[in-house]
Amino acid sequence: MTDYSVEDGVLGGSTTVTAVPAAQFRSLMSTFPTGVAIVTAADLDGRTWGMTCSSVCSVAVEPPTLLVCLREGSPTLAAMLRRSTFAVNLLHARARATADLFASGAPHRFDLVRWSCDPQAAGPHLADDAHAIADCRISGTVRVGDHTVVFGEAYRITHPVAADRSPLLYGLRTYSSWPVR
Ligand SMILES: Cc1cc2nc3c(=O)[nH]c(=O)nc-3n(C[C@H](O)[C@H](O)[C@H](O)COP(=O)(O)O)c2cc1C
Repeated sequence: MTDYSVEDGVLGGSTTVTAVPAAQFRSLMSTFPTGVAIVTAADLDGRTWGMTCSSVCSVAVEPPTLLVCLREGSPTLAAMLRRSTFAVNLLHARARATADLFASGAPHRFDLVRWSCDPQAAGPHLADDAHAIADCRISGTVRVGDHTVVFGEAYRITHPVAADRSPLLYGLRTYSSWPVR
């Protein structure tokens, strides 16, 4: 794993730069709306893990690669790394409660939703809450400060028969949605 850290640096050979405060950075990124996903993994003994994640980004088309950024210490991250696979459940507009549940740290979050995990799945599928699901195998990781960037190569994409096909969005510290025409 590459270990990457941001340190004070020198700009243009003369000006010393210092990282902005965390609150200012959070405020900046809150003005950049994203979709909302629940990233899931199954442990070696079949135990399920998952967390709400908005840091999902397309990386490359060939090979089909996306990235997710998960906090260090996350049990979901640990399970993903153990199995080298994870599933990305892209949530629809009526899945706000599930997004909150999987951001809450609740230990029994999978007892409160319908999920499935067939033998080819990279992690649990949340068919009631997702409009699309990507099964991925991990192709790389990079540690950046207090998070780890995980690169995943998608090997299967499924579209559950969801109640709502509008993607759930998160920005300005609130949920929204983008209607599908
Ligand atoms: C809309 C939303 C997006 C989030 N995105 C991320 C993210 O991209 N990465 C991350 O580490 N935590 C993110 N979180 C916080 C995690 O969901 C939260 O810390 C969760 O409890 C972690 O689960 P874990 O205990 O299995 O690690 C987000 C929370 C919300 C509400």
